Amino acid sequence: MSTCRALSIMPDTEEYLEIAGGCRLEGEIPISGAKNACLPIMAAALLANGISHIDNVPRLRDVFTLADVLRSLGAKVDWTGEHSLAVDASDVPCLEPDPDLVRKMRASVLVLGPLLARFGRCHLALPGGCSLGKRPIDLHLAGMERLGALTEENHEMVSVVLASGSRPVGNTVQLSFPSVGATENILMASALAEGTTIIENAAREPEIVDLADFLSAMGAIIVGAGESTITVAGARELRPARHRVIPDRIEAGTYMVATAMTAGKVSLTDVRADHLTATIEYLSATGCRITTEPDRITIEAPDVLRPVDVRTMPYPGFSTDIQPPCMSLMTKAAGESLFVEKIFERRFLASDELKRMGADIRVLDNCALVAGGFRLKGCEVNAPDIRAAAALIIAGLWADGTTRLRGLNHLYRGYEQPVRKLAALGAAIGENHPVILSRSEATGA
Ligand code: UD1
Repeated sequence: MSTCRALSIMPDTEEYLEIAGGCRLEGEIPISGAKNACLPIMAAALLANGISHIDNVPRLRDVFTLADVLRSLGAKVDWTGEHSLAVDASDVPCLEPDPDLVRKMRASVLVLGPLLARFGRCHLALPGGCSLGKRPIDLHLAGMERLGALTEENHEMVSVVLASGSRPVGNTVQLSFPSVGATENILMASALAEGTTIIENAAREPEIVDLADFLSAMGAIIVGAGESTITVAGARELRPARHRVIPDRIEAGTYMVATAMTAGKVSLTDVRADHLTATIEYLSATGCRITTEPDRITIEAPDVLRPVDVRTMPYPGFSTDIQPPCMSLMTKAAGESLFVEKIFERRFLASDELKRMGADIRVLDNCALVAGGFRLKGCEVNAPDIRAAAALIIAGLWADGTTRLRGLNHLYRGYEQPVRKLAALGAAIGENHPVILSRSEATGA
């Protein structure tokens, strides 16, 4: 049993967390539904006239933002249970999502495919860059063009309109990179297309398979989801469906890394080990013992970790989202480790904050060299993005002294109840504020 107790923190005007370093995480926690699967599935509900039901929905800021995006189009989105959403897309009078919401969260671009397919047009504020880099949507737009759309872009908006007819037209779409979001938009648009679409060099992430499962429940015919070539036979009409979102493999990986950092022993439940193969291989190579059952993973970590080099890749390669937590982990490993980032331009943002905690990290272009083997020192740090927030909490769990983490909006965009889950494992972690995610969270509506 851990002897750590939750910190008691006085109220402050800005959200922050405090973490007292030195705990050993022990126990069992459930993993939430996957944010990156839930968002496209919510968008896909726009494809059918009626009410779709989505279960195992994580209560996260990004989910609330997309619910607001759908509401800005005229759809009704209601919580029907703690983790269940009803999306009623019977009436969608507006084809331009609220630009402020689109700029707030890039995943809003996922309404593009469904709106084009069902209503023949969509006008979208350009989501622009984000902390991870430029992040253009050229592959999404080229995909829509291949399915019969005309696109017109100025510096802040893009209009995507069917060139003729009322449905997209099936075609072969060859992606130059297996973009997750572009694959999802093309899948959704082609589900209502006339004829067959073949997506080549498609993303293979489990979230693509989950979206394809939802579309199939709506009546689409899809073969090859999870492989590089996906074939979609378009349907004239799709019907609303009920779907349970897969477990969040990134959240699971984050807690596995946190366990490794604290030489702990933790079981994760409601999880899919087959979605975590690369993470399990990596953590095993550091010296952790990992056992898997159908919906459970147990990880037991040694006191001394081996350094392991890693290169991020599209799935089934090592996930770019798990890279920042692993960078924290490698500050503890006995030796040097190399990170090569192949997906995003600016995925090393956690490194500057880790350096403030005393880490020895040298970044050159898309490579980072971490010299590990000594203990970080707790201090005040600022989370620059979702996964960096997780990385800094992990660093704080093992650091000497107390770490104060600001920039929590990022954390709550992607992690459900992180403080409650970590405290349940014995972490000494506390918030200076009640976490109110949105009006609907506050009222339970
Ligand atoms: C999704 C995930 C994100 C994850 C990422 C990669 C969601 C909501 N987010 O993001 O957590 O880190 O996959 O696994 O599911 N690109 C282009 N042009 C495009 C589209 C993408 O150049 O039109 C580039 C991006 O700038 C980036 C790379 O392709 O460098 C990967 O992006 P993509 O796979 O599309 O990621 P997202 O769908 O945005």
